[in-house]
Amino acid sequence: MAPDDDTPRENADAVVRSQYEAHPYPPRDPDDERQRLITGSPSHIREINHYVFGGKRDFSKPFRALIAGGGTGDATVMLAQQLADQGPGEVVYVDISEASLKIAKARVQARNLRNVSFHHGSLLDLEDIAPGPYDYIDCCGVLHHLADPAAGLGALEEVLEENGGMGLMLYGALGRTGVYPMQEAIRKLTMGMEGGDRLALARRLVDSLPDSNWLKKNPAVGDHLLDDDAAFTDLLLHSRDRAYTVPEVDALMSGFGFTIMGFIEPVRYDPATYLDEEALVGRARDLPWMDQCAIAESIAGNLKTHVFYVVPSSHGTTALAQADNPGMVPLWRDDDGPAFARRLSGSNRIKMNFDGLALSLDLPDGAGKVAELINGERSLGDIQAALNQDWITFKARFDRIYRVLNGLNLMLLKAE
Ligand SMILES: C[S@@+](CC[C@H](N)C(=O)[O-])C[C@H]1O[C@@H](n2cnc3c(N)ncnc32)[C@H](O)[C@@H]1O
Repeated sequence: MAPDDDTPRENADAVVRSQYEAHPYPPRDPDDERQRLITGSPSHIREINHYVFGGKRDFSKPFRALIAGGGTGDATVMLAQQLADQGPGEVVYVDISEASLKIAKARVQARNLRNVSFHHGSLLDLEDIAPGPYDYIDCCGVLHHLADPAAGLGALEEVLEENGGMGLMLYGALGRTGVYPMQEAIRKLTMGMEGGDRLALARRLVDSLPDSNWLKKNPAVGDHLLDDDAAFTDLLLHSRDRAYTVPEVDALMSGFGFTIMGFIEPVRYDPATYLDEEALVGRARDLPWMDQCAIAESIAGNLKTHVFYVVPSSHGTTALAQADNPGMVPLWRDDDGPAFARRLSGSNRIKMNFDGLALSLDLPDGAGKVAELINGERSLGDIQAALNQDWITFKARFDRIYRVLNGLNLMLLKAE
C-alpha cells in the first residue's frame, strides 16, 4: 500500500468505493436492454443539443462524451444508443466501482453498441485514465459524494472542450429535508456494525419512525420505502454526501467559470408555477433568473435533486436554443410526444405530479392544433404557414405553449 493510502481522505474514498462495489447504483439487469431503453436527464441527446449547443449540433459528425461516475450505465447506454442512431459519436465511461462498470458494460454489450470505452478509476485522475478533450460531460449524482466536490468539478473542467458543456445532478438541500438527521442517527446507532446487520437495523429504525419525523413527513423522498437495498443504502447509509440549494449550485458552478443554461424541469424552477397573485409574479419576474429559481426552490420545498446544464460562461449567451426565429424546429423530447399532442386536442389542461406536488397547467386555446403539427421536421415558420397566421400572432401563442411544454421538459428546440 502506498503511504498516501493511509490518509483519512483515502480511507473515506475507499468506503465510498466499497459501498458502490457492494451496491452498484442504480440496480439494473442487463437482460432488460432487450425490452426497453431507459431515457432520462441529464444527457438525453435532444437536451444536450438544446441546452449546450443552441440546437445547432450535427450529431452525424464526430462527438465525444464522457460519463464521469457512470454507475450501472443509465446515461452511458442512453447516450451511446442515441449517438449510434445518428452518427459516429462515442462515449467514454469512468467509475471507481468495478461492479458498476461490469453491469454498465453488459448493458452496452446487450445492445451491441460499439461506441463505448470503459475505464476503471476516479474522475480525479482523468488525465491519466481517460484524457480529454470532451464535447460533453455527464456527471450525475457523483460530485456530492466526493471529499472535495470543487476539486471534482475542476477535474472535469480541465478535460472539457472549450465550446462544450456538461449535464450534472446534485442533491437538492430542501427536498432532502429529513435525510441528513436520519443519516446521522443511523450512523451513531450502527457504529461498529457492517453489511446486512447494519442495513437490517437501519430498516427497523426507519420502519418505527414517529409521525413527527421530517423524513417520514417528506413526500419527495421515498427510496427508503422501496424493497431495494441499494436505494436504501444510497439514501440513508451513505458514508459521504451533501446537498445544495440553488444559490449554492450557482456559486459552485460560477467558481469554475460555468453558466447554468437551464434546470430540469424548468417549470419547477419558475416561481410563477407556485404563485397565484399577479403582484407576486410580477415582483418575481423583475428579479434575475437565478434568484427566481432560488425563490421557486424555497416555495416548492420538494426539489430533492438539481439536474442542470452548464457551459463555459464565454459562450453562455449562445448555448441555449431559443424560439426566436422561424428557422427553429420544435421537437418532442420523447417518442410519446405525438400521442401526448393528440390528447391535448381534447383538453387544454395538463396535470402532473412532481414529488408530492400536484400541478395543473393551462395551455392557450388552439394548443392541440399547434402540438399536432410538431414532428421534429417542421420549423416554426412551417407551422405558422400551415396555421395561416401572421408571425406575431403565431409567436405569441407559441410562446405560451412552449413555456408550458418546455417547462415540463416535453418539448425542445433544434436549428433547421
Ligand atoms: C449515485 S451513483 C450515480 C451513478 C450514475 N451517474 C447515475 O446517475 O445513474 C454514484 C456513482 O459515482 C461513482 N463514483 C464515486 N466517486 C467517484 C470518483 N471519484 N470517480 C469516479 N466515480 C465515482 C460511484 O462508484 C457510483 O457508481
